[in-house]
Amino acid sequence: MDRVIRFFDTTLRDGEQSPGCSMDLSEKLEVARHLERLKVDVIEAGFAVSSPGDFESVSKIAAVIKDCTVASLARASEKDIETAFEAVRHAASPLIHTFISTSPVHMEHKLRMTPEQVLERTAEAVKFARSLCPNVEFSAEDATRSDWNFLVRVFETAIKNGATVINVPDTVGYSTPEEMAALIRYLRENVRNIDEAVISVHCHNDLGLAVANTLAAVGAGAEQVECTINGIGERAGNAALEEIVMAMNTRRDVIKAASRIETKNIYRASRLVYSIIGMAPPLNKPIVGANAFAHESGIHQHGMLNNRATYEIMTPESIGLTKSRLVLGKHSGRHAFADRVKELGYTLSEEELNHFFEEFKKLCDAKKDVSDSDIEALITSDLSKRHTFYKLHRFDVFTSNAARGTCVMSIQDAAGEIREDVALGDGPIDAAFNVIDKLVPAPEHSLEDYAIRSVSEGKDALGEVVVKIRCGDKIYTGRGLSTNIIESSILAYLSGMNKILEGTGAGGKT
Ligand code: KIV
Ligand code: ZN
Repeated sequence: MDRVIRFFDTTLRDGEQSPGCSMDLSEKLEVARHLERLKVDVIEAGFAVSSPGDFESVSKIAAVIKDCTVASLARASEKDIETAFEAVRHAASPLIHTFISTSPVHMEHKLRMTPEQVLERTAEAVKFARSLCPNVEFSAEDATRSDWNFLVRVFETAIKNGATVINVPDTVGYSTPEEMAALIRYLRENVRNIDEAVISVHCHNDLGLAVANTLAAVGAGAEQVECTINGIGERAGNAALEEIVMAMNTRRDVIKAASRIETKNIYRASRLVYSIIGMAPPLNKPIVGANAFAHESGIHQHGMLNNRATYEIMTPESIGLTKSRLVLGKHSGRHAFADRVKELGYTLSEEELNHFFEEFKKLCDAKKDVSDSDIEALITSDLSKRHTFYKLHRFDVFTSNAARGTCVMSIQDAAGEIREDVALGDGPIDAAFNVIDKLVPAPEHSLEDYAIRSVSEGKDALGEVVVKIRCGDKIYTGRGLSTNIIESSILAYLSGMNKILEGTGAGGKT
């Protein structure tokens, strides 16, 4: 029997904290639901002490997720650990994940602590965490650049004080597969109480080796892997969940390890995360890129027609990628719509279903055939509208090739009051964004990126606009969807501005 490896997903913590990947509460909840459907073992829902917003989202995720352990990160301090526990305490299975750096460079220049002080702090932090919670993970940050004998002492101390998981992070993506495997073997052979804890690895992708390092660690005896959907995360990202699991399944003969992951839900989860952060996968991204299962060259196509095994080592169906069926239209009823939404992996309340059915009917008036991509886009773009201070009421634009663009717009605030203004700009979209800047009292910000894409084919296709707005050191992603691209642009910019107000707590200001 092959070992079953635990999947610890940190999309909502290590992934979400990286630039351009921030998510609001409803987006995080939707990602958490997809992770539960994927059957990851642990969802790291955030870093509860880092902001009131993070605390709220960790608590909400802990309350709704039933089939996974829910974790919060905490530095090795009482306040962090207490706050982490407060946030996860109502989870079906709560976990506190506490960490401290163990490499010479981090201890000296970041912590300004001696190795003996780090050992002492490890003991205190883990003991305190364990007094609150039955599941405690301890991470030795920058483990792969730490002295191996010191690491042995740190992990022994953590386990002695109650750590149930010890995690070996390659924090700066510095390791190589051989080195990672040797380190895991060394820890298994030298940490005297290692049998009392699960060994975990957490690899970053700075040298493009995160997945290879993770698999090497599994081969050497690691029992838990930490990863993110699409590999999002600090700098070059974390190990990608979909790549680890598909490598394990496709090369089970070599890797000899299994997992609980429902691979059929990979594609949907990947799409959701990309759409929330306003990105598309590179065409050649393994597993989920548009070309991952495309066979273009004549020789390959010929081989595939004779036998798919000639060029296909795994099937698109195994990750839930089925040929999009042209499905619904204006004669489709609520039942057919509800069935399709369920098949696409979304769990909607009655109220949400009614809302999206209305939106779907409006879309059918503008567009003859509604595809799976259209329905997905309707749902995911709506996620970013849920916490809305300002809504679009009406706009009129004037545009020509001989004069500046003009936009008159009215928006509705949270109290239901309508505000109206007008602005000029270099074209209708710039003019529209200028009116929004006049109407919405947001802190200083700048537009970093604007992208538009068509969701499906045809002249009547939905246009999705994604904007990235910088405010302070954070980047907020706004998305908007409409068959009218000026409207999509306005909706995207307004959703980004609403996120700024929510993120900076400026929403109530008028
Ligand atoms: O990369 C890292 O070291 C981390 C730890 C907090 C586990 O994310
Ligand atoms: Zn990390």
